[in-house]
Amino acid sequence: MSLRHFLDISELSRADLRTIMDDAHTMKRARAAALGGVEPDLDQKLARLAGMTGPTPYADFSGRVLAMIFEKPSTRTRISFDVAMRHLGGETLLLNRDDLQLGRGESIEDTAQVMSRYVDVVMLRVLKHETLTTFAAAAKVPVINGLSDRSHPCQIIADLMTLEETIGGVVAGRSIAWVGDSNNVATSFVHAAARLDFELRIGAPPELGPSPELLKWAQREGAAIRVHDTARAAVENADCVVTDTWVSMGDENAEARIAALTPFRVDADLMAHAAPNAIFLHCLPAYRGQEVTGDVIDGPRSRVFDEAENRLHAQKAILAWCLRREADHQEAAA
Ligand code: CP
Ligand code: NVA
Repeated sequence: MSLRHFLDISELSRADLRTIMDDAHTMKRARAAALGGVEPDLDQKLARLAGMTGPTPYADFSGRVLAMIFEKPSTRTRISFDVAMRHLGGETLLLNRDDLQLGRGESIEDTAQVMSRYVDVVMLRVLKHETLTTFAAAAKVPVINGLSDRSHPCQIIADLMTLEETIGGVVAGRSIAWVGDSNNVATSFVHAAARLDFELRIGAPPELGPSPELLKWAQREGAAIRVHDTARAAVENADCVVTDTWVSMGDENAEARIAALTPFRVDADLMAHAAPNAIFLHCLPAYRGQEVTGDVIDGPRSRVFDEAENRLHAQKAILAWCLRREADHQEAAA
């Protein structure tokens, strides 16, 4: 049976990514219903989005265990995966690298083989993307990328969910402006643009723009990506404006980065150039006064706490996709 690793959105088919997105909407609706009340307008929108592939019959995780290994800090990823498993009947193990023999030099491959004998799925947050791919190549259970220096695919499911539930339809044909450092989160946005047919405009200083390899990949895949050297050009009439910290975990030269990125701060003047109903997103943690001003992130267009909540629903959909039996995948594809 082939394993369903969730390592990068670029590795997913369009159909699989759409299934995960639709299931994430379904999970959100199911949770709201279980809590006894759904805001009618949101419920209608979620029903429309969730209805595209029908309900998910695969999300009973009882008897299943998710192990999570963290090489870097986390609030949202750690808690949302933990709670997602619990809501659906599963259990979790939270592990810091240094608590494992990994921290004393045991190989990644041996660790992956051993853990595969105990748990059903492993999520890793790693310093180097290669750690993730090495682990996945040796693992006998699905492996999920909980953020690496290269990408952050789980985040993008929640971000696109947030835009879709705001507009009440799919993201295809919409435009998203990424403003600031072309970092790991931006890379996953590029991957998603190629699979879900939205336009991505990146506004970044040339030295912190997307790599030529990533842009070549996007071109080969037919993604609509435009790179601009001003924030204003990127956000013009966009449906969604997104930014992230200017100094990611593991980044060096903070001062030089901040100096280069200062013209790319998202403030109210910049938001005025986006579409009239445009929303603002940020994966969090945010640094108010640096990449975004307080009036924008705490203002009426900001959806950052819906976005953070959506990590919970997205993780359920990602876990369900990873844990489905092969026969279920074949049935879903038929
Ligand atoms: N957005 C995000 O991944 O947050 P954490 O680093 O808190 O997990
Ligand atoms: N780009 C940020 C995202 C944090 C969730 C980082 O890697 O630190």
